[in-house]
Formats: sequence, C-alpha cells, structure tokens
Amino acid sequence: MRPVKGKKASSGGDFRYSAGPARVPWHAVGEPFSQADAMSILEFLLPPGESPAKYRRRLGSVRRAVLALARESGRATKLTLGKQVEQAEKEARRFLKVKHACYLTNWTAGMEIGYKLSGLRPGDEVIIPSITFVATMAYPLLIGAKVVFADVDPRTLNLDPRYLERKITSRTRVIVPVHVGGFPCDMDRIMSIARRRDIYVMEDAAHGFGATYKGRQLGTIGHFGGYSFHEVKNINSLGEGGLLVTNLPCGEQFKKARFLGLDFSRTIPNWLYDVSALEDRFGRPQAPGNHSATEIQGLAFRLQFARIQKIIAARRKAAAFLASELAGEPGLLPPPKEGRGTRSSCHLYLLRVDPRTLRADIQALKAKLSRKGVTQIPHFGPLYKFDIVRKFGYDPKAIAKTCPNTEEVFNHGFTHLPLYPLTGQQLRYMAKAVKESVRQLRAGK
Ligand SMILES: Cc1ncc(COP(=O)(O)O)c(C=O)c1O
Repeated sequence: MRPVKGKKASSGGDFRYSAGPARVPWHAVGEPFSQADAMSILEFLLPPGESPAKYRRRLGSVRRAVLALARESGRATKLTLGKQVEQAEKEARRFLKVKHACYLTNWTAGMEIGYKLSGLRPGDEVIIPSITFVATMAYPLLIGAKVVFADVDPRTLNLDPRYLERKITSRTRVIVPVHVGGFPCDMDRIMSIARRRDIYVMEDAAHGFGATYKGRQLGTIGHFGGYSFHEVKNINSLGEGGLLVTNLPCGEQFKKARFLGLDFSRTIPNWLYDVSALEDRFGRPQAPGNHSATEIQGLAFRLQFARIQKIIAARRKAAAFLASELAGEPGLLPPPKEGRGTRSSCHLYLLRVDPRTLRADIQALKAKLSRKGVTQIPHFGPLYKFDIVRKFGYDPKAIAKTCPNTEEVFNHGFTHLPLYPLTGQQLRYMAKAVKESVRQLRAGK
C-alpha cells in the first residue's frame, strides 16, 4: 500500500491488524495467555467461598475442563481497543441516545478529554461543587487551572444553581455539576445559566449511569457527560472503566483523544498514520493522552450493562425500603424527592439528620452506627479541606466562608449508606440500627 499524505487511508481501523499477504497472525507479536493463566483469572474472579474443601474439589474438575477447552481453542487476538470496546460504545450510544460515546480506562480520563475539548487551559477557571470526589478537579489542578468551589444544596449535596452565577467570571470555561449518589442535579437551571454565558457544562455522572432527568438519560444533557465503572459503581468493568459522551461534533475527536492523537484517516509519506493535536472549542491545539481501554474491560462492561435495569430496580427497591422504614422518625430528614421522569440511579442512600431534633449531629450517629457494624461510604467530603488544595495555594478557610451549606451538612448533617448488594436481612438490620441509634440520641444516650 502506498501511503498518500492528507488522504483517507484505504484500510481504516487499526494498522496493526493489516497482516498483509504473509498473514502473520496478530497473537504472534505478543505473549499469549496460557491455559494456566486463564485458570488463574477464573480463580481470581471466583475465589473460595465458605466451603474451601468443596471449592478445591470442584477446581480440579474445572481445571481439567479448561485444559480440554484450551486444546480446542484459538487465542484471544486483540487485547486493547478492539471489537468489544467498539460494541460497548455502540450499545451505550443506543441506550443513552447520544451521537458519540468513548469507552476508556476510567472516568477521570474521560473528564480530562472533556476539559481539553472545552478549551480549558492554565489560568482558566472551572466551577465544581464543593462536595465531590477528588477526580473532578484532578485535571484542572494538573494543568494549573483554577478550581472554583460552589456551595451545595443541603437536600441533595448537589451543586446548587443559586450559588453558581456569582462564581462565574470571564475566565470560567467549564461548569461541572456532579450527580452525587446518582441523584440528578437541577440541570435545567444549570444549563440556562451556562448558555447565557456561553460556558460549557460537563456532567460528572460517575454515579448516575441509568438515571434520568426529565425523561433524558443523566449525563447526556450537558455539552459533555460521563460515567464511572470503577468497582464500587452500579456496574463495573473488572474494576475500572469509564464512558465519555457528547452530542457535539467534536465527539469525532474522541478516538484520537483517547489514543495519543493517532489519526488513521490521514497518513504521512512512508508511514501508516498521522498524529494530530486535538482541536478545542476555540480551534486551539490540545495534547492528547493515552486512555485506551482493554478488550476485557469492554467485554466486562457489556456483561453488566446488559442487566443494568435489573440492578437499578433492585437498588431502588432497597432505597424505598429504607425510606419507608425510616419515615417519620424524628431527627431524620427524608431523602430528596424525584420529579416526573427524574429518577436516581440509587448508587448510594443519602441519610440526613436534623441536629436540633436529634439533639446530636451526624458525627454522633455515625459513631453509633459504626459500633453496630453498619458500613458507611466515606468518599465525598469538601475537596477544599484536603491538603493538596492548600499546597496548590488555595485558602481553605476563605473558601469555607463561601460554602456555608457545605460546612453545615458535612460537619453535622449527612452520611451515605450502601444499598447493594445487601440482602433483605442486612437491609432490615441497617434500618433497625439507624432507628435504634436515633432514638438513643434523642433520649440523650
Ligand atoms: C463523583 C466522581 N467523579 C469522578 C470519579 C472518577 O471516576 P473513575 O474512578 O472512573 O476515574 C468518581 C469515582 O469514584 C466519582 O465518585
């Protein structure tokens, strides 16, 4: 094949598959996985349970079966960015009703691409809610952009549009609403504020895959949006995974953005591809990174994705059970209300207290629950309190003054409880432990 500069390459796809007339198989150039490797992976995914002796006996027969299978099998060919990843994206696009979807290593990587295409550069500003996971601000900190923390709505812990406008300046490039626990932010108001100022919105729907906002899939309302498939999320892809989506034409650049700018639609003389910079919304160049997802991640995502509705239904049932068990208990506040077509993915259960009625705050309740063995999810605190923010020159005390709701709910008001995959018995135990603890606190015990 004679490469032609500036023209579409005829073969398309991945150049490493062009075996040519020699038909050298793909697996000839990399170390294959053996039957023993496959067996170890199986054992990793299905470790011994409560009867180790029985497990070992079964393992023997599985090992023999895998050996027999290996004799008849070919080898896994493409291990990264192949058909599984492609299919994962196709299925996700259909489900989310979006034009572009990019499956990648994790959502932190997805956000990096979203920030780049939004035109974020050193010295620019990004508005994020004060309460989120550190990943939301990782890329802005990395490049020396300024992170501006906006206060949250105490009922949901989500970015409150009422505090958004006053944080916007001429340098604001991106607003990042985070749907904490999978409960949707007030996207209509956030989008209307952003549109008026011509600022991009990137929805951090790390927890919100499968949730809806006014009938639309959460994560598809902003200019960019995306999801995490880390091991603790509603669905995961063997521990890590992420999806970045957009309806903007710049989504055409996702593949380049994910894999170092390799551009198979163009070639240079005597080479099979060109490497191009990303073009941000202002037409300026941005450097791509390497966020390639593996085929096994893609496959794992597809397997769990196929049962997403069942998983969310089970979570919703568990959340409804907790809400009804805890309803009317003085000192506890009800979970946030969903609207028409607006449904949480029920990633976490938000437990809030009214310290005055409780005669104690959430710290006292958390301590009691921990003593009763009730796990809580400690991932979401005010980012401005972390050492890294201070080291980057921010003043945590000054920021805290601009975020009074955050201070109140974080110190006194909320914790998150897990929902899944808890058994009915575990849920009943958890509800009982919460009620008992609340009653003790009200009684001053
Ligand atoms: C709110 C939020 N944003 C972003 C991320 C990052 O996702 P990932 O772990 O897939 O990079 C997480 C992960 O837990 C998160 O909770």
